[in-house]
Amino acid sequence: MAITEKDIQDRFFETYNRDKSRYVKKWLVSWDYQVKRRKRKVNYGTEQPADFEKYNGAEDLVKWMNWFPKNYTNYLPLNLVSPLVEASREMDKKIITALNLQFDFTNYENRIGLNNAHDYIFPELYPVPERNKIRNILDFGAGFGRQANLWARNSTNIYLALDAIPKSYCLQHLYFSNIGRPFYDYINSPEGFSINSEKSGIYHLPTWRYDLLPDNFFDMVMAVQVLRELNSKLLRKMINQFHRILKPGAILYIRDHGDKWKPAGKMNIDNFLISHGFVLEFKPHIILDADLHGIPRIWRKTDERVVNSQKPDFKAKLRSLAEDADAFSGGILRKVIGQKRSNG
Ligand SMILES: C[S@@+](CC[C@H](N)C(=O)[O-])C[C@H]1O[C@@H](n2cnc3c(N)ncnc32)[C@H](O)[C@@H]1O
Repeated sequence: MAITEKDIQDRFFETYNRDKSRYVKKWLVSWDYQVKRRKRKVNYGTEQPADFEKYNGAEDLVKWMNWFPKNYTNYLPLNLVSPLVEASREMDKKIITALNLQFDFTNYENRIGLNNAHDYIFPELYPVPERNKIRNILDFGAGFGRQANLWARNSTNIYLALDAIPKSYCLQHLYFSNIGRPFYDYINSPEGFSINSEKSGIYHLPTWRYDLLPDNFFDMVMAVQVLRELNSKLLRKMINQFHRILKPGAILYIRDHGDKWKPAGKMNIDNFLISHGFVLEFKPHIILDADLHGIPRIWRKTDERVVNSQKPDFKAKLRSLAEDADAFSGGILRKVIGQKRSNG
């Protein structure tokens, strides 16, 4: 059942109030960076979003899309980037037209289009075994929903966005409703909402219902320009959840400014990931912002099969011990064994 554009916010708050006493915690639904920014009375330009607690209608989509205010840098080959930028532009033009909005696409290829292309290319940059191919995706802190543009094109996968902020959630609902894929939003029918691997399409869930995310289900969690803006209690909770819901060997794709920009807290996210079952697989040695906006990283949930396959077995350990003893004895051990073998 589609929600009419003007009812999205009412439906969001109805659901929020319904779930408030049972599921909602203040720290779970907080965007600490914006709370701090409000206290410091720092405002964005009038063409950009303000007051994230309120959704003012479809015009907010244009404001959020304007929140990519400069041309970003790129070092990836254009033959990789350009077709994705074009696909992304086509989709966004379709959505903007369907919503009767006006958006200036002049710099699209250096702003939203480029960001979308980068977040599509990096997670699949190099070959991986078949079991690690990306199908089901969770986008944590999804902004206006832009990752669905390229990642939800595939008609057989599941793309799920998780967010808690009223303006973001409502915009995501609006954007996803216009992508042209089956769309299942928790706020449409919270009762009995479930994620069904037989039903591909776009799913949408508020952060406070992370309990509905199935175990070992996702091939990728994306967290782009979000983790450093949240409180450490929420981060600890969500990273543990990411570990629960990712398949063994699946990835957590993070792109942000790392320790260079931590507006919400001092937590050492890398150390937390290492001590909670993730290994860092990819982090390019590039100059922040001169080469690319943010540093993309691929963390992989440890797969016990991989770890065990690389562990020496009992025989290999014995051989290694014998080799050490032989080296220590200056090769005498091997000679003695060799002589014994030739005598007997
Ligand atoms: C800077 S925006 C980045 C948006 C998006 N990832 C992108 O790259 O365009 C931060 C996002 O984090 C979301 N966010 C903030 N607090 C959150 C929370 N408690 N739970 C989930 N998402 C949250 C915001 O609503 C927003 O969508």
